[in-house]
Amino acid sequence: MTEKNNKVAVVTGGSRGIGRAIVLALSGMGLDVVCNYRSGKDAAQETVRLAENLSGRVTVMKFDVADHGSVKKAFKEIIAEKKRIDVLVNNAGIARDNLIAMMKSDQWRDVLETNLYGVFYCCQAVTRQMLKQRYGRIVNITSVIGFTGNAGQANYAAAKAGIVGLTRSLAKELASRNITVNAVAPGYIETDMTSELPDAAKEAMLAQVPLGRVGTPEDVANAVKFLVSDDASYITGQVIHVNGGMFMG
Ligand SMILES: NC(=O)c1ccc[n+]([C@@H]2O[C@H](COP(=O)([O-])OP(=O)(O)OC[C@H]3O[C@@H](n4cnc5c(N)ncnc54)[C@H](O)[C@@H]3O)[C@@H](O)[C@H]2O)c1
Repeated sequence: MTEKNNKVAVVTGGSRGIGRAIVLALSGMGLDVVCNYRSGKDAAQETVRLAENLSGRVTVMKFDVADHGSVKKAFKEIIAEKKRIDVLVNNAGIARDNLIAMMKSDQWRDVLETNLYGVFYCCQAVTRQMLKQRYGRIVNITSVIGFTGNAGQANYAAAKAGIVGLTRSLAKELASRNITVNAVAPGYIETDMTSELPDAAKEAMLAQVPLGRVGTPEDVANAVKFLVSDDASYITGQVIHVNGGMFMG
């Protein structure tokens, strides 16, 4: 689908993995995409290059979603320059796995600050503009782990489950102004985040996937693409599970 338009999208953590695939998918729809990154400028530039090869419009912007002041400043700049923000995809996320008995408060805090506070900061930063426009599409990337839990990932699961509550509440708050807020919950997707897992863990996860293959970043991006398209204008407060049947919510 190519919808040539003047819509502006912001994707957090777009320098690699699922975020990169989302940036490419949205720029492929004709959106003007701001690709946020925290570190890894080269990777972010590579995302831009890949988009340009597909005639997409992508610019990069460095900020840390866990830093409230930086988020406010960045979105102010984006709105000043682009005059609007139509789509926000909260994709940036980290994992700091440990069993609860051993978990350091830093590990707990870092994950909550990036994966949950970061989503809150970015949602809040676009809300006023979207209300003014009477249009907006917010998509939050949660995880199957937010639904099933996982030993060694209490911090990650808490943050990802928190995103679901935030998504539903915000969907109710903003619906009257034609702003939809949804979540996408990936299962086991092949990215840098999962490549570090031991082979045994990968095999165990794959064994739980009825479709019998690992997901790709594009599988997730396709769901995001649908949720921001006009075809999804009557869908809000929902979670789309992209997990090969690993969990059926
Ligand atoms: N890969 C999977 O199997 C899987 C499964 C379920 C959910 N997810 C979620 O999908 C999202 C993307 O995951 P991925 O696998 O592509 O991970 P990844 O580690 O490959 O990429 C994460 C991206 O987020 C960015 N990021 C991290 N902290 C940031 C911060 N504070 N500010 C700005 N950017 C930041 C990173 O720079 C990177 O670009 C995450 O929210 C993750 O939790 C991934």
